[in-house]
Amino acid sequence: MYKKLRTIKIGNLAIKLYEDKKVYRPLAVSKLIASCIKLKGGERVLDLGTGSGFLAIVASKLGAGSCVATDISPDAVAMAKANAELNAVYNIDVRQGNLYEPVENECFDVIISNPPMTPSQKPLRVETYGGADGRAILDTVLKGAKVHLRPGGRLLIPTISIVGIDVTAKMLAQLGMIYRCVGYTVVPFSKLLKGLEDYIIRLPNASIIYDRYMRPCWTAVVFEARLPP
Ligand SMILES: C[S@@+](CC[C@H](N)C(=O)[O-])C[C@H]1O[C@@H](n2cnc3c(N)ncnc32)[C@H](O)[C@@H]1O
Repeated sequence: MYKKLRTIKIGNLAIKLYEDKKVYRPLAVSKLIASCIKLKGGERVLDLGTGSGFLAIVASKLGAGSCVATDISPDAVAMAKANAELNAVYNIDVRQGNLYEPVENECFDVIISNPPMTPSQKPLRVETYGGADGRAILDTVLKGAKVHLRPGGRLLIPTISIVGIDVTAKMLAQLGMIYRCVGYTVVPFSKLLKGLEDYIIRLPNASIIYDRYMRPCWTAVVFEARLPP
């Protein structure tokens, strides 16, 4: 069914993944989040916007009791199911739907999400488009976490500097969550972002740094935010 296969190493884990141009290929932030996943055995996990299923598979291998993985894209849902089987992981329930709709009335110990955050005036592909300021999906995931986490539950979520790392920190505080930064990276702009650079630098929340080659780069922070017990 899928022609390409790759392996991603995270600590002692080697995750095999099918690849297809219709589904998001795990990149730097996906790997950073994966390296930040710490679970107590048996926890119930939600991976929101699972794409290839990568983060759900890592969570399962790290001891999640069960995992629900959701995505709006039917292609992603099909691939996440195939990748779970490829990795011999049988406790992931993959569901198709918009944001928290497939888990209405359900609560989790841990929510993991790597939402699309590319800001653009024109719509982009669903796996990257974050609305005009890049925060449309991110903010909805943040607000919904309070409803879908059990008391004491944790949200693991990144924010990239072009959409405002401090904006996420303030939102988490307003939601009554106790947060800390558990991962950090710096990544040069992709071809897509270079094309959007003139737009991005005018966004009020955006911050860009330039590396030693004077390439524009964004930074990413992974937040772990906890609901009070
Ligand atoms: C940046 S990719 C991350 C994929 C994967 N979690 C990873 O880290 O490799 C974002 C994913 O969110 C999905 N997505 C975008 N909008 C969504 C929505 N409104 N509801 C659910 N999933 C959505 C996309 O289809 C895509 O698979």
